[in-house]
Amino acid sequence: MCGIIGYIGKQNAIPILIKGLKRLEYRGYDSAGIAFFMNNKIGVRRCAGKIKDLESHIRGERLKSITGLGHTRWATHGKPSEENAHPHRAGGIVLVHNGIIENYFELKEELKKKGHVFTSETDTEVICHLIHSYSQNGLNFEDATREALKHVEGAYAIGIINEKEPQKILAVKKDSPLVIGLGKGEFFIASDIPAFLNYTKDVIILDNDEIASITHKGVSISKLHNSKPVKKEITKITWSPSMAEKSGYRHFMLKEIHEQPRAISDTIRGRFSLERAEVNLGEFSLKENDLKKLDKIFLVACGTSWHAALVGKYMIEEMARVPCEVDIASEFRYRKPLIPKGSLVIVITQSGETADTLAAQKESRKLGAKVLSICNVVGSTSAREADSVFYTHSGPEIGVASTKAFTTQLTGLYLFSIALAKAKKTLSSHEIRELFNELLQLPEKVEKSLQSNNAIIKIAKQFFRVRDFLYLGRGINYPIALEGALKLKEISYIHAEGYPAGEMKHGPIALIDNNMPVLALAPDDNILEKILSNMEEVKSRGGKVIAVATEDNTKVLSRASYILTMPKTNYYLTPIIFSIPLHLLAYHMAVLRKCNVDQPRNLAKSVTVE
Ligand code: G6P
Repeated sequence: MCGIIGYIGKQNAIPILIKGLKRLEYRGYDSAGIAFFMNNKIGVRRCAGKIKDLESHIRGERLKSITGLGHTRWATHGKPSEENAHPHRAGGIVLVHNGIIENYFELKEELKKKGHVFTSETDTEVICHLIHSYSQNGLNFEDATREALKHVEGAYAIGIINEKEPQKILAVKKDSPLVIGLGKGEFFIASDIPAFLNYTKDVIILDNDEIASITHKGVSISKLHNSKPVKKEITKITWSPSMAEKSGYRHFMLKEIHEQPRAISDTIRGRFSLERAEVNLGEFSLKENDLKKLDKIFLVACGTSWHAALVGKYMIEEMARVPCEVDIASEFRYRKPLIPKGSLVIVITQSGETADTLAAQKESRKLGAKVLSICNVVGSTSAREADSVFYTHSGPEIGVASTKAFTTQLTGLYLFSIALAKAKKTLSSHEIRELFNELLQLPEKVEKSLQSNNAIIKIAKQFFRVRDFLYLGRGINYPIALEGALKLKEISYIHAEGYPAGEMKHGPIALIDNNMPVLALAPDDNILEKILSNMEEVKSRGGKVIAVATEDNTKVLSRASYILTMPKTNYYLTPIIFSIPLHLLAYHMAVLRKCNVDQPRNLAKSVTVE
């Protein structure tokens, strides 16, 4: 994980690096540091803690430099401490790194034998020592870097500076994200675009095994291993800088929850024709003929995106009658999946950089499947390595707990299912138009669901001190029960479990007593009666039932202590509407427990390690 940034230009780099690091803090936040040139020497300041701790650490020093590097860390090798924080140094070589060096132990042992002295427990430090030792052997900065990286196995995005060649940054990428921002007379490197969105929207996305040499004059990119120059496209980013700010909200998570009507509107705009009753397949880079031939689909993802995959199975199988398997990416990659010829693997990933998902994607292609990536980040590794991509347009998601990215993933899966159903002729044009009409009303209905906020705060006040929480759902809303529980546990540290309600009698019912709150998802659908019985079972054992129900549903009244009513929508879109109150509940419980909502302990937004 970790976030890296680099600046070279005319302005003072220090505040730019700090501001950029704050935008990257979602990638890791246990220690941080910067490096900068001062009087032709490189200064390094680091500390354990967050960027605000680093800010206090350097306050009063009045540091000034026109070139610098920064890093925010999520510890993998060695605890969060000043020594293990980046930047790392060996001689005049100073660098920041995101990724994992798999053969660091062997390299470290060899270097130690040659007399190198290490000051940290990190894998990163070996890269510094390797580059330093090749420069001592007479190679220039760039050649020493190329030579050093020949020996390094693993994933890396690295920014490097060298005391001997001041006012130059080298940036190298392999399997960890790295983008270059092109300003006017100033240049940036970063793990993610929001880090420099205030200064430029012109971006070069570095590919694997490319090295960029950046000076005040410009950027030149070449292949890492044979120095061949590479001509790169400039991508224009459409996000505005304010999209990466809190805009008056107390937390990014709350802002992102409230952005959902806009995010869903952006995700559906231009993606289907009501008149022709068809999805715009170009937006998925798919062809109707390929869809017609499709006999099997695998949905693969991690975390919240895996919950979207579970909902996707219900949508695809019920609308298009094509069998689906859903896998957690870290399981899929090692389970030797049987993928029949012509299968489609849909990987779902907000960041497009989750290591396990990328590995599953690679494995799928190796096994002959086509891959569709449902992804939020333009130019991310998953998007670039897939056969086809559907971009969700939720805008940058900064809060570690995924909200708007999740509901736009569900929106993408809804459109895909309709497209497949059309190709397979399992839905009529009339039925497709009805599904589109409901989709068009979705942003407004999400807006309405958000109005349950005050009622949710009251419920949160009742329950924020509890130790355990149970979430029950059935059918297409069973994954939403999992999602509600995951959100609560990750940001409030309350132990929570999501369960298919029908399974309660096989175990979790043993946990029900007067202290156990149980949230039941009870939309008006063909299995409403079943979930009502499950609520009765909880109530008769003293459990406190919180029901999330469709408006005007009077049947829940006698079975629940608390009721949150949501606007009516069709069966396939209830998971979107019903996830809104669950995200809000987790948020308010976490705030009342004084937890760091946007940066929960031990978690990170983009998990680029296995
Ligand atoms: C991390 C994040 C989750 C996210 C998961 C998958 O665990 O904290 O919010 O759902 O990674 O991320 P992806 O970017 O692949 O959707």
